[in-house]
Amino acid sequence: MKITVIGTGYVGLVSGTCLADVGNDVLCLDVDANKIRILNEGGIPIYEPGLEAMVRRNKEAGRLRFTTSVEEAVAHGTIQFIAVGTPPDEDGSADLQYVVAAARSIGRHMKDYKVIVDKSTVPVGTADRVKAAIADELKARGVNTDYSVVSNPEFLKEGAAVEDFMKPDRIVVGVEDARARELMHQLYAPFQRNHERLIVMDVRSAELTKYAANAMLATRISFMNELANLAEKLGADIELVRQGIGSDPRIGYHFLYPGCGYGGSCFPKDVQALVRTAREAGQGLKILQSVEDANEEQKYVLAKKIVARLGEDLSGKTIALWGLAFKPNTDDMREAPSRVLIGELFERGARIRAYDPVAAHEAQRIYGDEPRLAYARNPMDALEGADVLAIVTEWKEFRAPDFEAIKAKLKTPVIFDGRNLYEPAIPRAAGLEYFAIGRK
Ligand code: NAI
Repeated sequence: MKITVIGTGYVGLVSGTCLADVGNDVLCLDVDANKIRILNEGGIPIYEPGLEAMVRRNKEAGRLRFTTSVEEAVAHGTIQFIAVGTPPDEDGSADLQYVVAAARSIGRHMKDYKVIVDKSTVPVGTADRVKAAIADELKARGVNTDYSVVSNPEFLKEGAAVEDFMKPDRIVVGVEDARARELMHQLYAPFQRNHERLIVMDVRSAELTKYAANAMLATRISFMNELANLAEKLGADIELVRQGIGSDPRIGYHFLYPGCGYGGSCFPKDVQALVRTAREAGQGLKILQSVEDANEEQKYVLAKKIVARLGEDLSGKTIALWGLAFKPNTDDMREAPSRVLIGELFERGARIRAYDPVAAHEAQRIYGDEPRLAYARNPMDALEGADVLAIVTEWKEFRAPDFEAIKAKLKTPVIFDGRNLYEPAIPRAAGLEYFAIGRK
């Protein structure tokens, strides 16, 4: 099939590449000329495991191309994915300007039948707006052609995006007409693996499904974070509580890990957007508002622990920081808890020596030439001249460090662990003070 993907970011690039990998002819469009240049020159603008080789393979096979030409892109695909960003507006609602702009550019150039697929995470009712924007443009040009608008939210996880797209648990498709439904069946047939993964529904339900999924996951995290804070006060151990409840199949183990707050480009903005949509619909979501408030507070938990141990004034102190990305296996720092911690430490006069396996370049882009932030080459190098160690991302390579060596390097041998990576007895046996989240 001929497919166009509008917006070549995390979702667009992964979706386009995976669709090419099963044999489709894919053209990816982006307004960011630099991104397209990097891709055309054989590079890759983001870090995502397995993606680079896949992009190369499909480019070489001639099934995957990149362009900045809207005209060429719209002419190419019978299926036009919209995978542009939907960042939060000032009031928390999803900013749809990029989605509408993409829809308009389709309307401005299309000549024959297309299925326009909303892959971006968008509020209920967006498909209607996309439909109207295209109708507007067609009318202005005096062109009369059929088209369908489909909602197909994406559930991939950064860090496992290729795997998730190639082997989805489910594919949600919101569709209103038979022609588009048939094309979506055909499109996703290669990803079905043994049993039907397509869940077909109406457009509005599909749009809501994406927000409901992220809201539920964020709720589990905030719930566990609050319980962890309580466990600390009561002298209980949240890790034991987690196992005690996770073993109940009605609850399950996923997303029960307490820590220093969730971040990333999805949970924070999607929770906010759903709260906003609900308010506009006159149906408040009290639980979800609290989920967000609790998460905002949780991002300060490590800074609070550091201040409680070292005092308010951190001038002259250097904090070693393991992790910058909002989670492992990505270089994404959008809404990352590390950013709140870095801000709090700077405010109190501290310097930071950070190590992240892939996100240092992203931190450099965010913090520029900030003299108080140095980048280390490896985890132990981050400890050079440092007073204490703080951990904010659960990268695999942090899981089994040499605690004796950490103790020898730190001026004050303390670890503040925002991801509960260690059994407390182990760093303590090496003579380290160890603070985690919700543990004795
Ligand atoms: P991103 O910011 O990485 O990529 C968006 C891309 O769209 C950018 O490269 C931008 O230059 C481009 N763009 C903007 N307007 C354009 C236009 N008119 N024409 C062509 N290109 C245009 O965003 P990301 O992370 O890929 O997210 C995209 C959507 O997918 C969002 O709605 C997000 O909520 C959703 N999503 C993101 C997931 C993630 O893990 N990042 C997972 C599931 C959904």
